Amino acid sequence: MADSGAHIIAVGNEKGGSGKSTTALHLAVYLLHQDHRVATVDVDSRQQTLTRYVRNRRSTVETSGRQVPMPKHVHLPTAWGDSIRENQRAEQDIFAKAIAGLRDEVDYIVIDTPGFDGNLARLAHGMADTLVTPINDSMIDLDVLARVDPVSGEPIETSPYSRNVQRARTERLASTGRGIDWVLVRNRISNLGSRNASQVQSSIERVAARLGCRVADGIAERVIFRSLFPIGMTVFDPLEADLLGSAPTMSHVNARQEYRSLVAALQLPTPAVGSTATEPLRLSA
Ligand SMILES: Nc1ncnc2c1ncn2[C@@H]1O[C@H](COP(=O)(O)OP(=O)(O)OP(=O)(O)O)[C@@H](O)[C@H]1O
Ligand SMILES: [Mg+2]
Repeated sequence: MADSGAHIIAVGNEKGGSGKSTTALHLAVYLLHQDHRVATVDVDSRQQTLTRYVRNRRSTVETSGRQVPMPKHVHLPTAWGDSIRENQRAEQDIFAKAIAGLRDEVDYIVIDTPGFDGNLARLAHGMADTLVTPINDSMIDLDVLARVDPVSGEPIETSPYSRNVQRARTERLASTGRGIDWVLVRNRISNLGSRNASQVQSSIERVAARLGCRVADGIAERVIFRSLFPIGMTVFDPLEADLLGSAPTMSHVNARQEYRSLVAALQLPTPAVGSTATEPLRLSA
């Protein structure tokens, strides 16, 4: 592990619905299944998707008696006082205390951020050792990182979100001597393959080169994600038909492999990740 305790992974993108909360829980649960100690932190106080996801997981454990690993979960509320400056200070204090309390207790802290700019989101980005940005597989979604020339596919101008990340990187480098390893991942990739999809892939690579970040292999569009949230499960958990409503399929196996590849691409510090401690899936015939 890093000298200073837990490795912090923030999942961020100012574009709503890009798959941040889904990715955050999948990364956390994957790492738990590898026998690491993991904390999850939700700073999306408006939607609280990750908090609800973890709560659903707890209630599935209680009602079904199944044993699945649980992250240590913290939800950080937004401060709602009259003074913006005081709110920001209060949020910074509570955030710093929460992270300080977790740093020596766990190996990894996974932070889910909201799909909009705000003080807590910026603080989360500033604390990240690794930043994972899921991007829905379309040129419109790529726009959140950079404006791209429609003809050449070249990035013309970086976006406000990218500038925020670059600022957080510079500040972090100045104060801690460490930057942020920023990894982009295409999400909800269509199985059909299309001209648009290859355009997105080539543009994303050019944008990544411009922003100094890396691109991981993507996650495909899969209907199974819809059934996982209400039961608080991930594709890494033992999934049976009575829990899911239908038997697990090859789609689960493939989704596992994609998330494993994502974690491998993150090149997280040891303890080693990437072994196959996850229980085998029972597939339908
Ligand atoms: N690979 C995928 N295939 C199919 N559906 C997906 C996939 N990833 C995420 N989804 C679905 O997309 C929707 C948005 O996902 P999620 O809530 O994780 O996004 P988000 O970025 O956290 O959104 P917000 O910005 O609102 O917080 C959810 O319904 C989720 O189940
Ligand atoms: Mg979310």
